[in-house]
Amino acid sequence: MVFSDASKFQAMQPKKTLEPHYFSGANFNIVDTEKFKKAMELLRESLFDKGATLFAADNIITWNRNLSFLRDDYFIRIIQDEKNTGVEKSILWRLYVLLYFAEMAAQREGDFVELGCHTGFTASHVVQKVDFKKIGKKYYLYDLFEWKEGDKHTHLPGHDNKKMYEDVKARFASFPFVRIIKGSVPESLSQDFPEKIAFAHIDMNHPDPEVGALQRVLPVLSPGGVIIFDDYGWWGYSAQKMALDPIIEKNGLKILELPTGQGLLIKP
Ligand SMILES: C[S@@+](CC[C@H](N)C(=O)[O-])C[C@H]1O[C@@H](n2cnc3c(N)ncnc32)[C@H](O)[C@@H]1O
Repeated sequence: MVFSDASKFQAMQPKKTLEPHYFSGANFNIVDTEKFKKAMELLRESLFDKGATLFAADNIITWNRNLSFLRDDYFIRIIQDEKNTGVEKSILWRLYVLLYFAEMAAQREGDFVELGCHTGFTASHVVQKVDFKKIGKKYYLYDLFEWKEGDKHTHLPGHDNKKMYEDVKARFASFPFVRIIKGSVPESLSQDFPEKIAFAHIDMNHPDPEVGALQRVLPVLSPGGVIIFDDYGWWGYSAQKMALDPIIEKNGLKILELPTGQGLLIKP
């Protein structure tokens, strides 16, 4: 139901509501930060609650939402942890979605894979939320762990660390069920790849390796298994959507675009 004026909305207000939560973080693809700041101020002033329930991060600007993850101690700790970067904190809604489905897929047959694990930020949360030892699954992490002039993949801050691969190995050293495979996807999948997959996170910001990965993941994805495509809904990465959709459709499936910019596929 949509109300165009505040008086109707207020008349609808139930007696009991949660504490309002406000969150502001990094947004991307902005060329005039001054104008953006001004626009956000005007937006807040225009809202029924002056922005008390506003969420503005990771290119999601919304209000009058419960923001359940901001009420969850696990996610509050991520925001409070000074070791996490501003971007890592700003993509919290994405992480919340991903962890929800990772926990759900833990009950499905097969292992977990992340294609494009970068520094292991998301994977470090998956290993906290999913009890791999108890469920007897492995978690395969793939990445190039480097960037050189002329490379096709996006240059990210983590690539500037010359010991990127060693540091990711050290990050997961106490998790024996984690396997780290260095090299270019899809060729590197020949080094080590599970026979069955319960959960896949595909996040390489480029259509070529993502197509190669999907072609290997889809045939071994278990019924009820989940794929999260990190970049599927981002217009700047729409080459990925254009490349992935025909493969998915050929298999009689459809990816759901989420407001976080992720794509979700649950295999029937
Ligand atoms: C956005 S980052 C991944 C972030 C990570 N999934 C997370 O949530 O913490 C994208 C990663 O994909 C990797 N990548 C890009 N092309 C690749 C390829 N062909 N093979 C393996 N990794 C690739 C990059 O090195 C980069 O680390």
